[in-house]
Amino acid sequence: MSLLAVDHLSSGYAGAVVLREVSLAIAPGEILAVLGKNGMGKSTLLKSVMGFLPKMTGTVAIAGAEATRLAPHRVARLGVGYVAQEKALFQDMSVEENLRLAVRRPDFEAALAEVEASFPFLLQRLKQRAGTLSGGEQKMLLMARSLATGAKLLLVDEITEGLQPSVIDRLAGVIRSARERHGTTMLLVEQHLPFALAVADRWAVLDRGEIAETGATSEPDSRARVLKHLSV
Ligand SMILES: Nc1ncnc2c1ncn2[C@@H]1O[C@H](COP(=O)(O)OP(=O)(O)O)[C@@H](O)[C@H]1O
Ligand SMILES: [Mg+2]
Repeated sequence: MSLLAVDHLSSGYAGAVVLREVSLAIAPGEILAVLGKNGMGKSTLLKSVMGFLPKMTGTVAIAGAEATRLAPHRVARLGVGYVAQEKALFQDMSVEENLRLAVRRPDFEAALAEVEASFPFLLQRLKQRAGTLSGGEQKMLLMARSLATGAKLLLVDEITEGLQPSVIDRLAGVIRSARERHGTTMLLVEQHLPFALAVADRWAVLDRGEIAETGATSEPDSRARVLKHLSV
């Protein structure tokens, strides 16, 4: 059974159709990268799956559970974590408060152990105001926070945007190790092709709201096939 099954999903904004009949499935423990130029509907796809946008047609199922019409908090309760493209930290709250708000109380020690396993520097910064972390550190906190919730499916929107290569390498390592330790399934929306090909098992290109092409990252021509869609 797929952990995420999106079937003929169309959605958009106030009557403007953005996603057109998108179908994709992700097996448990699998990482799928969705690539595509700006404005092609990548973020719209994640927002629709998460329940932030109403679906016009089609269905979404999470681990076999019907999720097409659920509100975001109900989708989250099915074990889905979402890392938005726009920074979604409480800037005036501490690192610890940002973690506590995302993780239910009895789980907090386990959550801290997860943070330690992925980004140990954050444990030394628990009292620091999130807004005073660098851009890269804030992205790491966002990633740590969603891993710490123990989500079984993570939807991650352009986590590498604006990051230095060293931070991108670190994120790649954390994502691989989280999958190894917990079998976390992920849908990564990316424009950073080397990162996407390094961490994902399969890729799909979105072009004007439609899936234009898909492949396995193990296929040697993946890079060339994706680039064809990203250039002009
Ligand atoms: N809140 C919104 N209201 C209306 N149109 C939007 C909104 N957000 C995005 N769009 C439009 O939907 C299309 C896809 O956007 P988006 O999903 O953000 O693309 P991507 O993430 O691939 O860059 C674009 O044409 C964009 O202008
Ligand atoms: Mg986007």
